[in-house]
Amino acid sequence: MSGPTFLIHDLQAAVSPKGTGPLRGRDLGELEVHAPASIAISGERFAAIGPPEEVLRGLPSGTDYETLDGRGRVALPGLVDCHTHAAFLGDRAAEFALRSGGASYEELHAAGGGILSTVSATRAGSEEDLKSAVGWHLGWMLEHGTMTTEVKSGYGLDRETELKMLQAIRDAAEGHPVDVHPTFLGAHTVPKEFASAAEYVEFVIREVLPEAARLADAADVFLERGSFEVPEARRYLEACARHGLVLRLHADQFSERGAVPLAIDLGARSVDHLEATGEEGARMLARSDVAAVLLPACGLFLDLPAPPARLLVEDGAIVALASDFNPGSSFCESLPLVMNLACTRLKLSPAEALSACTANAAHVLGLDDVGRLVPGYRADVLVLDAPDWRYLAYHLGGDRFAAKIKAGRLL
Ligand code: NIG
Ligand code: FE
Repeated sequence: MSGPTFLIHDLQAAVSPKGTGPLRGRDLGELEVHAPASIAISGERFAAIGPPEEVLRGLPSGTDYETLDGRGRVALPGLVDCHTHAAFLGDRAAEFALRSGGASYEELHAAGGGILSTVSATRAGSEEDLKSAVGWHLGWMLEHGTMTTEVKSGYGLDRETELKMLQAIRDAAEGHPVDVHPTFLGAHTVPKEFASAAEYVEFVIREVLPEAARLADAADVFLERGSFEVPEARRYLEACARHGLVLRLHADQFSERGAVPLAIDLGARSVDHLEATGEEGARMLARSDVAAVLLPACGLFLDLPAPPARLLVEDGAIVALASDFNPGSSFCESLPLVMNLACTRLKLSPAEALSACTANAAHVLGLDDVGRLVPGYRADVLVLDAPDWRYLAYHLGGDRFAAKIKAGRLL
């Protein structure tokens, strides 16, 4: 072992998704449990994980390293949030109150509120305002154990604001402990200035995409009634792929309208939401390499039917979980809460929920060295102050961390 820099010793357990790469179907629930365990870290990477005496024996003598007492605690990989809209200004508290009185999310959207009200607030702010907002939101996420996240644009829907959003996301990430992966959601919905979705998509491809593609890793579209249909989504995504972006879709949230076959045909990385996906669509997705990203906090926030989570897992899908953190449909940055909802509402096991927002979420972001406690992987660790790792999902709203280690450094 190269010189260790950090040792977490005598943990009650260290728990990680098994294997490498994405976990398909029932493999999602396969965990590697070391109990008891110590973890040696060298620089930014894990060096060894295993029984305490074995890890200790492997340490070169005479070296100096930081230590953390793991007794009575459990270690888990830092969480990965593969779907967030954490770059926004303003809030939708008034809309939340209207919804509590019976107004629906789709009605508010059709009346020019919803996403478009956040677009107005985001356009009105400066890049500096937006950078500060992203920074706060990253801090909230980290409090709940998120160490890697995706952040989408999509509240600009004009050239200036979309690019401002992507730049602010990158600037806020600079020097922040949370690793950030920006996504260009240029086709979130059609802004008021355009008469049709098709016309807007041509504008985005011509005027925004070339520069946005330099600032983002992936592209996303909202395929739904009131936003974009299959022909416009295809046109936008094909153009984004030509600019080298990974493809993702918001789809089947309220209605099923051809997103799953489109995603498979285009070789997209993921389809996210899936509350309205029927049995045939779920089976088709499960047989493909397109990941199914489930967002149960959004389901709770909007009181949507549950997506076919069990069917997806049983049929072999690559299932991931994410917060969908945004001001309108999921004002929730907590992945432990998402894990709880995945267990209580989607009937995933705690083990499946853990892998879905670590190893599989990392896969959605194209990361193959994050989301597991394995030598060589990036040393992102949550030390949970609990006698059983399942407390992370089980203790509703009570994620209590004794320590967080990000890329080998104690935060
Ligand atoms: O994932 N469905 C579309 N987009 C977001 C919501 C954005 C918003 O309401 O501001 C979502 O639910
Ligand atoms: Fe979303």
